[in-house]
Amino acid sequence: MRRAISVIGGTGPAGTGLALRWARAGETVIIGSRDAARAQQTAETIRQRAGANAQVSGLENSAACAASDLLVLTVPFEGQAALLKQLKPAMRAGSVLIDATVPLAASVGGRASRTLGVWQGSAAQQAAELVPKGVSVAAAFQNASAEQLNGDADLDCDVIVCSDDPGATQVTMELAAKIAGVRAIDGGKLENARIVEQITALLIGLNLRHKGHSGIRITGLPDGAYKVSLLHNR
Ligand SMILES: NC(=O)c1ccc[n+]([C@@H]2O[C@H](COP(=O)([O-])OP(=O)(O)OC[C@H]3O[C@@H](n4cnc5c(N)ncnc54)[C@H](OP(=O)(O)O)[C@@H]3O)[C@@H](O)[C@H]2O)c1
Repeated sequence: MRRAISVIGGTGPAGTGLALRWARAGETVIIGSRDAARAQQTAETIRQRAGANAQVSGLENSAACAASDLLVLTVPFEGQAALLKQLKPAMRAGSVLIDATVPLAASVGGRASRTLGVWQGSAAQQAAELVPKGVSVAAAFQNASAEQLNGDADLDCDVIVCSDDPGATQVTMELAAKIAGVRAIDGGKLENARIVEQITALLIGLNLRHKGHSGIRITGLPDGAYKVSLLHNR
C-alpha cells in the first residue's frame, strides 16, 4: 500500500484537522476537494502550520482518490453517497476507505444534536455499499472534535474503529494512534459504526449545553486493547 493519505473533503474542519495531525506526524497527506484550487490553498495552510518538512498537497477529489490506496472521507452526510458514486471509478481494489461521516439531522435542516435513520444502519455501512468490490471500509474519527484536531494541544479522546476487514481496522488504528493523545480501540464489526455515529450527536448536544469540545474515553479494558500515540504536543 502506498503511504500517502488522501483526505476526501479535506477542506472542512474535520478533514483539515486530521490532515494537520498526520502531517505533523510525518505522514504524506493529499487534501481532496471538489475544487483543486481550494484543495491547494488548504494544503498550503496546513503546510505552514505543520512545519517546513510537512508533505501536504491538494488535488480535486477524484485525483486525490486515484493517488492513494488510503482514503479518508470527511464530507457532510448529504454529500456522501453522491460523492462516493462519483469517485467509484477512481478507487482501486485493495484500498481502505476510512469513513468519518455522521448522519446528522442538520443535513436535512434538522438539529445537529440528532441523527437521521440510515437504511443500511449507518453512514459507514452506506459507504460500504457504494465502494467498488475489494475496497474495505473502516469507520473512525466520528467522535473526534475538529476544534481539538485543529489545535496544538494533545487530544483527550479515544477513537473507536469499526470494520469487517481486520486489515482495515489495523491500518486505521495505526493512523489514529499517530494523533497525539488519541487511543485507538478496535470497536468490532462495521455495523457498530451505527452506535459510534450516534455518540457524536450526543457530544454535539453536550458541547451546546456546556460550551465545550467533548470527546470520549473508554475505560476498564486491558492495556492491550488501547493503541496509544507515542507523540506529544507536535
Ligand atoms: N466537525 C467535526 O467536529 C467533526 C468531527 C468528526 C466527524 N465529523 C464528520 O465529518 C464530516 C465532515 O465534517 P466537517 O465539519 O469538516 O464538514 P463540512 O465542513 O461541512 O464539509 C467538509 C468538506 O466537504 C465538502 N463538501 C461539502 N458539501 C459537499 C457535498 N454535498 N458533496 C461533496 N463534498 C461536499 C467541502 O469541501 P469542498 O467544497 O472543498 O469540496 C467541505 O469543505 C461530516 O460528516 C461530519 O459529521 C465532523
